[in-house]
Amino acid sequence: MDSFQIQLQDMSFSYDNSKLILRRINMIIKPEDFILIVGENGAGKSTLLKIIAGVLKPRSGCVLVNGRPIHKDKEYFKKIGFVMQYAEDSFCCDTVFDEISFASKNFKLDRIKERVENAARLVGVDQSLFSKSPYELSSGEARKVAIASMLAHDPFLLILDEPFVGLDKLGKESLRNILINWKKQGKSTVIVSHQTKYVDGLANKVFKLEAGSFSQINPF
Ligand SMILES: Nc1ncnc2c1ncn2[C@@H]1O[C@H](COP(=O)(O)OP(=O)(O)O)[C@@H](O)[C@H]1O
Ligand SMILES: [Mg+2]
Repeated sequence: MDSFQIQLQDMSFSYDNSKLILRRINMIIKPEDFILIVGENGAGKSTLLKIIAGVLKPRSGCVLVNGRPIHKDKEYFKKIGFVMQYAEDSFCCDTVFDEISFASKNFKLDRIKERVENAARLVGVDQSLFSKSPYELSSGEARKVAIASMLAHDPFLLILDEPFVGLDKLGKESLRNILINWKKQGKSTVIVSHQTKYVDGLANKVFKLEAGSFSQINPF
């Protein structure tokens, strides 16, 4: 794998230039890191993920990829996959195949069919679902398709916001297996989750967000 490191340097953020939501956060994401972020409701976890994903820009400090600001790296969005909370609510295609291939086509990548098949295999989506409407899927299948759609372009880093929410026990166990497979490939993960039992033993770093500040705690 190419070298890959994302670094947050003294990164602060506010939505309205008054109250800081995130205060001077420092964090490094390296290959094979599995980073769990925990914190109360409203602590700023989703905001932090959006900053790492380049969807929001820091007010001060910076986010670097391999030492360069992420907004100067035109390929940055190809290096990450961002699965927002309830990502399946943003489905926009007529078929599961098109949904999974959506980002890869946008990035004008080659070998679309192979990419979709690989991503589907990684998350356990059967090819018999490819021609189905993504809106006809069970909640567990829909979540898998949402994740596969962020894997088909073969990113280095998967960013997941509360991916276990809304899944039944089987769906949660199946998602845990997806994350184990992803990690085995040497890829990185940043995940926000309350349901820490499903990431038990996976995280090598755990951070707690509290009143905008960040502290590293022991892995569970
Ligand atoms: N688009 C927005 N505009 C203004 N304030 C926001 C916006 N999104 C979130 N917030 C506020 O930022 C804080 C952190 O929110 P969020 O990052 O969603 O926290 P968490 O994911 O930990 O629950 C909350 O006080 C929330 O109300
Ligand atoms: Mg949130």
